[in-house]
This record gives sequence, structure tokens and C-alpha cells, in this order.
Amino acid sequence: MSTPTTPGLQLANRAKLLKGSPILLLAARAGEMKAAGKDVISLSIGEPDWGTFDKIKTAAIASIQKGQTKYTPPSGIPELRKAVAAQTSKDLGLEYTFDQVTCSSGAKFVLFAALQALVNPGDEVILVAPFWASYSTMVELADGLPRIAVCDEASDFKLTPAILEKAITPKTKVLLLNSPSNPTGKIYTRDELKAIAEVLRRHPQIAVISDDIYNRLCFTEKLAPHILHAAPDLKDRVIILNGASKTYSMTGWRLGWAVGPKAAITAMSNYQSQSVSCPSAPAQYGALEGILSCDPDIERTVGILKEKRDTLLAELAKIPGVKTSVPEGAFYLWVGIKPYLGKKYKGQVVHTSAEMCSLILEEKLVAAVPGVEFGLEGYLRLSYALDTAKGVEAIKRIGDFLQSLTA
Ligand SMILES: Cc1ncc(COP(=O)(O)O)c(C=O)c1O
Repeated sequence: MSTPTTPGLQLANRAKLLKGSPILLLAARAGEMKAAGKDVISLSIGEPDWGTFDKIKTAAIASIQKGQTKYTPPSGIPELRKAVAAQTSKDLGLEYTFDQVTCSSGAKFVLFAALQALVNPGDEVILVAPFWASYSTMVELADGLPRIAVCDEASDFKLTPAILEKAITPKTKVLLLNSPSNPTGKIYTRDELKAIAEVLRRHPQIAVISDDIYNRLCFTEKLAPHILHAAPDLKDRVIILNGASKTYSMTGWRLGWAVGPKAAITAMSNYQSQSVSCPSAPAQYGALEGILSCDPDIERTVGILKEKRDTLLAELAKIPGVKTSVPEGAFYLWVGIKPYLGKKYKGQVVHTSAEMCSLILEEKLVAAVPGVEFGLEGYLRLSYALDTAKGVEAIKRIGDFLQSLTA
């Protein structure tokens, strides 16, 4: 949405350039159409359509009833920070203490704070395309320069040592890694991470932000491999990012966290204390319960997601020319539609994935996100954390639309 101007009110350049999250805008458009009575199926937003686990709701309600409804420390209640430190230490086989943890209003804001804490004007941040749509804007809001490392089919959409080496310049400050990936669902193996770490060792000025928000939604093993499994010696320059949204289906509660070197965590905590003050208190008690007792719920969720993935992959395979790489985690399908770009709908050429998504929404009432929003043209991202029958119906509609296009 373009920013409206009012005479006499001069917006800052930062605000003029700022666009709303394309995914949230798309979801909002689909919501409006639904509200107008249209049978829209939304595969746009990265959000489980099942409820927050009951144990979490009960714990949060109990905390409210006990009066735990006040400001908390800026980086979160000590119990939650201790639980995050213990979980991360166990996951990675490394020692983290609670003062190396900061919690805030969603992993999105924690990432924002991390970039504010690390990036000086003109510093470059390497983003691995396709990447989560918000990364590049967040880097720009920190006055940094996104340096896009394009990783297409040839590298299974993953960063390789050669691509990384080529992207590094004297201005490189941060590498942002995300595994399992949004949008591809791809997971780096330990060997791939070891090879990336080899390059990083040659460039000690580069910090890593490892966005692990989907690390427990993993179909290949219980926990996705991590750069610090592969290279524990990099611990002092890795910031680990995670949160409750995806794992515990707590998107609306807004609770995320970072774990890492004390200097960075303290700077982020100060940033949070001067902006949002602290994360929501009930959300913290809920997330604490999630960490302490919801492993069985996660296991069940992963089983359900895997079934959904397989059913929808089989449905996509029925559409001629469409190529979908098999996701190993998260809940997205990254669907290649290149053979259909350049074809015509009602005599009009469909040039881009954005045009394709817009037509699919208006004509077939299915909301999907264009690949270009993730830095790679020729794809659609479909979120499949929804009712399987609805997902199948949506893919049928997409298939019908694609096949109605003419040369
Ligand atoms: C890759 C990635 N990182 C971070 C987030 C932020 O999650 P939240 O702010 O809900 O914790 C998302 C949400 O979609 C995501 O896909």
C-alpha cells in the first residue's frame, strides 16, 4: 500500500519508502474477500490453522488470574529466559545462561532488534534468496545494505561455500541463515553447514544470525541441524533466533527470543526496553509452558504436517509443467511455475509471479504468495498449515487456472 500524504505533514524518507508486509497485505485482501462472502482459500500466511496447545492456554490464563499482568523485565521473565537457555543448550550441546537470552514481541521484532544492534550504515547483510520477505526491509531500516546471494535450483535453493564467498565484501557484517527455510522448507545438512563454516572462519568480521523459527518442524530428524552443531567454535559470533509462533501455534501471542553473545543480547534488550518495553506477560507464561511440556504436541504436529505435505505434493504433481521441490521442514511448498509465465489469460500475457497470484486470487479465489516477494521469480509459495481437503481444493483450482492459460 502506498503511503498517503497530508499537506503540512512531512513524512521521513524512511516512512515514505516503507511498504507493508506483502504477505500480510495479501492475507488481508483474502480476508476482505472472505468477509464479502467469497469462498476464498488462503495459502498465503505462515500460520498454523490449529489452536494453541491447551496446556499453554491454561498456563497463560492461570498467570492472568494470579495477577502476573504487569510489566516484566525488558528481556523477559527469568523463568522463561532460563527455560530458553536450557533448551538451547541441550539442542546445541553448548552452554548458554539466562543472561544470554532476550525475549520480545515475536521473533520478527527480535530480529529487528538484532539488526539494529549489529548493523552500521552501509554495512552489508547477506540474505540467501529465496528468503523470508521481511528480511530485506529490516536490513534497510537498520541503514544496512541487503546483499542478495541468489540460490536457485542448481544448489537446491541453499547457500554453498562458493556462492557465500562471492557475496562477501569488506563491508559484510552479517550472514542471515534460515533452516528450515521459509519459503522452500529446505534444511541444511551438517556437512553443508560445515562447509559454510569453513568460509566464515576465513572472515572473522562476519556475525551470523541463525533464524531457527522452524527448527522443530522438521521431517528428517527431530531437530534441524544447526551451524553451531557443525561449528561450535563460531559460538561467539552466532545469534540464535527462535520463538513460539510456529512451534506452539502462538502467532497472535507475539513471543520470540534470541540467544547469543552477552554484548549483543544486552544491546538488543536495551533496544527493546526503549521501544516495546517488554513482551506481553501472559504470552511469556504461555510460552514457558510450551517449552517445558509440549514436546509430545510438537511431535504430533510434525506427523500431521508431513501427511499434509505428502498429500499436497501428490496433488501438485498432477499439474503438468509445475515443479515442486520437496520441503524437509516448516509448512511451505515452493512451486515452480516458470513454464506458465509468458502465457496468456484472456488474451493478456501473464509476465510475473505477482500477476499470476493476483489473477489466481481474483479468478479462482486462492491466495498464494508470489516468489518474487522472496527474491526469486518464477515460483509460488503455498502455506499448507491448513485443513488438507481445503489445500487439495486450492491446488486443484491453481491447476485449473494454469492450464487455462494459452500460448
Ligand atoms: C523465517 C521466519 N522468521 C521469523 C518469523 C517471525 O515469526 P514471529 O514474529 O511470529 O515470531 C517468521 C514468520 O513468518 C518467519 O517465517
